[in-house]
Amino acid sequence: MVPGLIQELRAEASALLEPATQLRRRLHEHPELGLELPRTQQAVIEALDGLPLTLETGASISSVIAVLDGDHRGPTTLLRADMDALAMPEDTGLPFASRVDGAMHACGHDAHVAMLVGAARLLAARRATLDGRVVFMFQPGEEGHAGASIMLDEGLLDRHGPVDRAFAIHVTPIVPSGMVATRAGAILASADAFRIVVTGKGGHASMPHDSVDPIPVACEIVTALQAMVTRRVPAFDPAVVTVASIHSGTTSNVVPEVAILEGTVRAVSDPSRSLALEGLRRVAGNVAAAHLCTAEVVPTQPGYPVTVNDAGAADHVLGLAVQLFGPDRVVRMPSPVMGGEDWSFVLQRVPGSMAFLGMAPDGVEHPAPNHSNRMVIDEPAMAAGIALHAAVALDRGARI
Ligand code: NI
Repeated sequence: MVPGLIQELRAEASALLEPATQLRRRLHEHPELGLELPRTQQAVIEALDGLPLTLETGASISSVIAVLDGDHRGPTTLLRADMDALAMPEDTGLPFASRVDGAMHACGHDAHVAMLVGAARLLAARRATLDGRVVFMFQPGEEGHAGASIMLDEGLLDRHGPVDRAFAIHVTPIVPSGMVATRAGAILASADAFRIVVTGKGGHASMPHDSVDPIPVACEIVTALQAMVTRRVPAFDPAVVTVASIHSGTTSNVVPEVAILEGTVRAVSDPSRSLALEGLRRVAGNVAAAHLCTAEVVPTQPGYPVTVNDAGAADHVLGLAVQLFGPDRVVRMPSPVMGGEDWSFVLQRVPGSMAFLGMAPDGVEHPAPNHSNRMVIDEPAMAAGIALHAAVALDRGARI
């Protein structure tokens, strides 16, 4: 990109920061969960009103797709914001904190929406010099509902494509504000939630030999799973298995019939994901069988695949970020993050990438991370996100 355009993009993005902040705060006050986000959907439609976009809403979920056609032929670029919040309380004390009990925008998806609306404004104003098409994807249900996958099923790529490239930003308050970080290859892990139901036979706690106690068996499964991961999964292609919840029993003198374990499996390649998932079933089933129990392993949600950045696309975004913000504001990540993303479903179909954008609040030594009830972001960094989205769409497509 020529230096003049870079300067203009930065200035235009800064000018859009005020409305972006207003929109972000409006969404933050009224977080919605899952696949049905009627209020958020309405806010997005209102925020895009008056722009030369073709709007389409989801058939089965409250998604919004906005299409901007440039004046000239060129590539089609998909830009995405997820829109949903988390089922948790908010304890930030912000004046615009959540007004909805048990719901909080604690993963920054409110900022994602605000930045993508800002990019739509910026790009719409530049339509005369835009070669190609930009598809803006506003997606519900990232937090465990696979909303991106549903949008693909509803024809996201077929109806507005062929889509040539795709890009998404995820904000993070534990990275310095305005810093862009990404990498080629896997950037986020696969995420498979599981439940193991260990069933024995209830009885009197004083006579365990007359019952089949599932509790020590459940404990043994927990430790055996950790041995399975370290012995079966290659050290340089890692997986994580975490049992995050154990429930069994009601009182001190009863052997319960069942013990229930819940947890998550993460990996950064398909082979390691398969090894860990197969190992989970094998170990749980056989440890249980060794003690006359049964163990049923059930996936509790459709797992997200590994999020894999196209190497060329990631390098390209890093290059654009260096031009926009300078080399000291850009990091090539040495390793993936073990969180999961349903953006992975899109990147399985379209060459593209995801980048993290730092939003550490000013003057805070240990900022609360994503998914914390105290998570706060540095809103002015949203200007960087607007500029980066726009640069990805304009690059190679702009007549400069
Ligand atoms: Ni998120």
